[in-house]
Amino acid sequence: MRLVAFGAGYVGLVTGTGLSELGHDVLIVDIDPQRIARLNEGVIPIYEPGLTDLVRRNELAGRLKFSTIVEPGYEEADIFFICVGTPPDEHGAADVSAVMAVADSIATLARRDALVAVKSTVPVGTGDLVQDRLNKSAVHLEAVSNPEFLKEGDAVNDFFRPDRIILGADSERARELLRELYAPLQLSGERLVMTDRRSSELIKYASNTMLAMRVSFMNELSRLCHATGANIHSVRLGVGSDARIGKRFLYAGPGYGGSCFPKDVQALAALGKSHGIPMRMAEATHLANKEQTAFVVDLVERALGGAEGKTVALWGLAFKPETDDVREAPAIALAEALLAKGAHVVGHDPEAAVNFAKVVGDRVKLVSRDYDAVDGADALVLLTEWRSYRAPNFREIKRRMRGDLLVDARNVWRASEVLREGLRYQGIGVPQPDPSRLSTPRLPHS
Ligand SMILES: NC(=O)c1ccc[n+]([C@@H]2O[C@H](COP(=O)([O-])OP(=O)(O)OC[C@H]3O[C@@H](n4cnc5c(N)ncnc54)[C@H](O)[C@@H]3O)[C@@H](O)[C@H]2O)c1
Repeated sequence: MRLVAFGAGYVGLVTGTGLSELGHDVLIVDIDPQRIARLNEGVIPIYEPGLTDLVRRNELAGRLKFSTIVEPGYEEADIFFICVGTPPDEHGAADVSAVMAVADSIATLARRDALVAVKSTVPVGTGDLVQDRLNKSAVHLEAVSNPEFLKEGDAVNDFFRPDRIILGADSERARELLRELYAPLQLSGERLVMTDRRSSELIKYASNTMLAMRVSFMNELSRLCHATGANIHSVRLGVGSDARIGKRFLYAGPGYGGSCFPKDVQALAALGKSHGIPMRMAEATHLANKEQTAFVVDLVERALGGAEGKTVALWGLAFKPETDDVREAPAIALAEALLAKGAHVVGHDPEAAVNFAKVVGDRVKLVSRDYDAVDGADALVLLTEWRSYRAPNFREIKRRMRGDLLVDARNVWRASEVLREGLRYQGIGVPQPDPSRLSTPRLPHS
């Protein structure tokens, strides 16, 4: 098929490239000329494991192109994908203006009957508004909802092995074409959920809010663990062992971030409000998330005996590992709060430092080597559990630090190993370890 994807961000790049790998002829269009120029020079503007090779291979094969305009020939595409951003407006509702702008241009340029698949996350009813715009075209264009479920950091894998593909389409013709498009991803079993457009749009918000809710609930429990002496690890295991609940997505941490959960939870709350149906769970999830980040700031400050004049090193600036995305990352809120309290903040991230600097400027000193961040620091806070941070040399950390506080906001380090080097350990929702009950070292010290 001939396909056009609007938006060369995380969703458009992965979807367009993945579809070209399946053999389709794909053009990815973005209004950002710099982004397109870089793509045409072979520079992938985002860090997403596996994507660079895939782009290169399909470009060389002539199946994948990038442009700021819909190039001649592509006005006759079979399917146009809308993959542009839907950021929150001042009330938390999704701003769909970019989606509408793309719908308008498709209506003007399309030269034959086609589908317009909305992959952007949009409020229920947006597909109807897109259809109104498309109806102005001289050809028959049909809006379908095809929300995206990729996980940044594992997006290429998610494209080729999706848990499910949600399709909200009204006509049989649209359903048939979409079945054909996604058939290669269904060889090992049916993954399509065919539904109406509005249900499809709601499924996306419901999924993200449900996941965010699990995280926020565990975060609230972690605070209760601090107050009561319970251990969040045991609570997760015990609760998650119920097959109806399951163990995944039950980790306490510094609060969720990213370009999706925070905005989608708020957008669902705003959607409910606009229909007179309060979304209490979404509202509480959002609030609990904000409180969790404040809780971690407080934890650091209390353990330091005040943040004023102290140096705090942050390991992990991206909102999660294997991505360079810092949108709504807990590291931003934490750095801002510590700076406001008079602390000096130093940061390191394997991939996200450049994006982080675009948000916080030079107020946070960024270093390119992880251990350099802890030089002279009073505390080290682990915020993103990149693999390279999971088994650090605590002796080296102790040697370089001025202070002795390690805050493990992802609960990935073994407290006994930290304590053994004369450092203090503070996890999330776990009791303070007792230094007198340290196990003997597994390896002799060098
Ligand atoms: N990033 C994710 O993990 C993820 C996952 C699932 C769903 N989504 C949803 O998908 C949508 C896109 O997210 P993203 O993270 O890819 O966004 P992004 O910000 O990474 O990329 C959006 C791109 O669209 C371009 N754009 C804006 N207006 C345009 C126009 N009129 N024509 C062409 N290009 C235009 C921008 O220049 C930008 O490059 C959002 O609705 C988001 O909620 C994102």
